[in-house]
Amino acid sequence: MALGIFPLIAFLLLLPVWADAQTVGNVTVGASLSAHENSHPWVSPSGDFAFGFHQLRNNKNLFLLAIWYNKIPENTLVWYANGDSPAPRGSKLQLADRGFVLNSPQGEQLWNSETRSGVVDSGIMDDSGNFKLLGGSSILWESFKDPADTVLPSQILDKGVALSSRQSETNFSKGRFQMVLQSDGDLVLATVNLPSKHVNDPYYKSGTAGDPNSSSPGFQLAFNESGYLFVSRENEERSVLTPTITGSAKDFYYRATLDFDGVFTLYSHPKASTGKIASWTALWSEPDNICTAAPVGASSGVCGFNSICSLNAEKRPSCGCPRSYTLIDPSNQYGNCKPNFTQNCEQEPAPAEDLYEFEELTNVDWPLADYALLEPFTEDQCRESCLHDCMCAVAIFRLGDKCWKKKLPLSNGRLDPGLDGGKALLKVRKGGRPPFCPYFPNQETQKNKNKETLTLALSALGGSVFLNFILIAVTCLGFYCIYQKKQKPLPVNEVIVETNLRSFTYKELVDATNEFKEELGRGAFGIVYKGTLQMSYVTEVAVKRLINTLVQGHHDKEFKTEVNVIGQTHHRNLVRLLGFCDDGDNRLLVYEYLSNGSLASFLFGGSRPSWNQRIQIALGIARGLLYLHEECSTQIIHCDIKPQNILLDEHYNAKISDFGLAKLLVMNQSHTNTVIRGTKGYVAAEWFRNLPITVKVDVYSFGVLLLELTCCRRSVDMESDMEERAILTEWAYDCYCGGTLDVLVENDIDALNDIAKVERFVQVAIWCIQEDPSLRPNMRAVSQMLEGVVEVPIPPCPCPYAFTA
Ligand SMILES: *[C@@H]1O[C@H](CO)[C@@H](O)[C@H](O)[C@H]1NC(C)=O
Ligand SMILES: *[C@@H]1O[C@H](CO)[C@@H](O)[C@H](O)[C@H]1NC(C)=O
Ligand SMILES: *[C@@H]1O[C@H](CO)[C@@H](O)[C@H](O)[C@H]1NC(C)=O
Ligand SMILES: *[C@@H]1O[C@H](CO)[C@@H](O)[C@H](O)[C@H]1NC(C)=O
Ligand SMILES: *[C@@H]1O[C@H](CO)[C@@H](O)[C@H](O)[C@H]1NC(C)=O
Repeated sequence: MALGIFPLIAFLLLLPVWADAQTVGNVTVGASLSAHENSHPWVSPSGDFAFGFHQLRNNKNLFLLAIWYNKIPENTLVWYANGDSPAPRGSKLQLADRGFVLNSPQGEQLWNSETRSGVVDSGIMDDSGNFKLLGGSSILWESFKDPADTVLPSQILDKGVALSSRQSETNFSKGRFQMVLQSDGDLVLATVNLPSKHVNDPYYKSGTAGDPNSSSPGFQLAFNESGYLFVSRENEERSVLTPTITGSAKDFYYRATLDFDGVFTLYSHPKASTGKIASWTALWSEPDNICTAAPVGASSGVCGFNSICSLNAEKRPSCGCPRSYTLIDPSNQYGNCKPNFTQNCEQEPAPAEDLYEFEELTNVDWPLADYALLEPFTEDQCRESCLHDCMCAVAIFRLGDKCWKKKLPLSNGRLDPGLDGGKALLKVRKGGRPPFCPYFPNQETQKNKNKETLTLALSALGGSVFLNFILIAVTCLGFYCIYQKKQKPLPVNEVIVETNLRSFTYKELVDATNEFKEELGRGAFGIVYKGTLQMSYVTEVAVKRLINTLVQGHHDKEFKTEVNVIGQTHHRNLVRLLGFCDDGDNRLLVYEYLSNGSLASFLFGGSRPSWNQRIQIALGIARGLLYLHEECSTQIIHCDIKPQNILLDEHYNAKISDFGLAKLLVMNQSHTNTVIRGTKGYVAAEWFRNLPITVKVDVYSFGVLLLELTCCRRSVDMESDMEERAILTEWAYDCYCGGTLDVLVENDIDALNDIAKVERFVQVAIWCIQEDPSLRPNMRAVSQMLEGVVEVPIPPCPCPYAFTA
């Protein structure tokens, strides 16, 4: 395990009780383990798996009896015994001749292994991840036959043995989903109505029930050593569920887990540490779209009541409340939503027209919960009828003349492009609606109020460049100060890896730049000058002189740490840092010099770069960002992706600059650790909403940049004579929906001849600029979609409030 990586990751991970000495091999009757941080797990002979007490991340006094991957830093759990009743510190596991017994310190039994009759002699943690209790020559109990949410290679599930999802990533109580091979031989996934055991109708079926004429029914679910999952049938034929696996079982771990969001997923993880942060990759999952699965009554569906399920680019369900509805438990995104108003059937203080209005949601439906169907009805009649009906919570208008009225609670909510533009008219209490939609005006009303909205939107987005600049500056400074105060010093890393950065004196750089004579550009962090250096050879460099405010308040050590992190990045799509100067009050950074300037001048300057050049640049930036987010040893969120920060070398390769200067964010940490910045027009909504800042802010900015690259124009263009084109993201989405993509690249013959790729790029961009960060794909998915390795799903509208179209 790379030592440098471990401390960084440790805080995030479910750190199990750590062992310095390990018991390997067989455990005999009488052996015991007790639940505390320093208890030593029982490790399989190869060291791949460990059995012992795993401390819960969010409650350090509770432990799970579990099996986990012992050699990878995540220590992913593959089995746990007592998810519903975690063991308090000091609980004891005893191997008795009747099997395992887990008792709390007070002597209360929390779990036992319900061993088959027979006397246990010993237990073995084997190299496949199975813990077995042996008696004589037979297996009396094994963890493989008592699974939690995961199956492993060489494990077989018999009929009736269920996998249960957990509650959430970190809560191991039984969740709302289960998978089982039914008695008829079909492998099914279904929701469970907790806390009862009632299982609803399946949302996925493997179709292996067999039929009397041709195929034989399923008999077992098997997972073989090469990573294939299949249902073996009674006549010994196989129905393989998973696609072809390319990685060898020697080099990869495989597991198939019923995730807490209800998706059954096959994952792989490289065994050897390559120095990079390796992670689990999803190779296959079912169902394809959990949101549009058949609705089931007497349950809320995949998401909570009154919630809407939409599929993100990683094929995961994302649940969200419609506007004017809020989560009952704000910490549980998958829970129920409640209206933030009450509608009553008593005398209201004013006519309904004055109290209620409709929120229009396209392609959204709650398929159950109707109490009336009205037809033939026009949309106006439908609205009118729901407005004056105090039972009506939402009306669905579809199929030209049908109006379904629905009451609360709404269930099985979904965003389903297959609904062909059907509308959900959600009745909400007036008031509180902002005077205009700052970003994507509701399209219907936009057509009527186009002018006024646009003027407002424009002044918000940059009507006066100067005013805007001040606004941004004030916002940034405000945030800057707040976060500076809150900021804890970086956990100064014990290991500052040596880099071959050169340390310059101030004098050397004054000479190199000829007393800062030739200015190359100005950015948020300071001014950049051209220079010439005598290193091992004479070379041109760009010297960035950091502005004072940035330097002050940063301790020496932090500066060095940050410079070190930047110095450790090596990627062809990143501008290379050569050295630095930390001399008194002077802090400067020395970068490689790139002869073709910034993407902004190339793209918006006189001559338009070719379509092919733009494609290559887009792919390059995507790769650079992917490296920053996932592949370098410390995750770096750029926070300010825009054409001014992309430089071009002599072959017009794109190189990202200015990364790593904002506080480094270690994976998943929230915004308390960053200096807020970002440039209007490219910034995601999280910045304004007190939401955690994650890599998804860069994905958003990349989306805007991708549109600029595709269309060769700026994201905001006040000069345009056509109002509807002023805001690129909006115009591009209109063109995409209206099937007029050619307008976006008019006069560009190469792009017009390659309209399928233009469409793909625009689709990817629309995914990236989704308002809800969890809907945005990560940069790996973005790269794969851009390169055409994977298909791009149809993107939803990137509207300001989820699901408003
Ligand atoms: C563990 O038990 C198995 C089966 O009883 C036996 O084959 C093996 O040699 C034992 N290993 C050790 C280390 O005692
Ligand atoms: C897990 O979730 C369940 C149900 O919401 C809750 O009762 C339980 O306390 C949670 N467990 C932990 C350890 O947070
Ligand atoms: C089985 O065969 C019969 C007669 O050929 C046919 O009517 C029936 O539909 C078949 N059943 C299935 C499930 O294919
Ligand atoms: C696993 O199953 C796949 C698909 O049937 C097969 O190609 C592969 O050889 C099997 N591997 C092993 C180790 O049995
Ligand atoms: C209800 O929600 C809307 C939209 O989310 C909000 O503008 C309004 O202020 C909320 N009303 C109350 C009473 O919280």
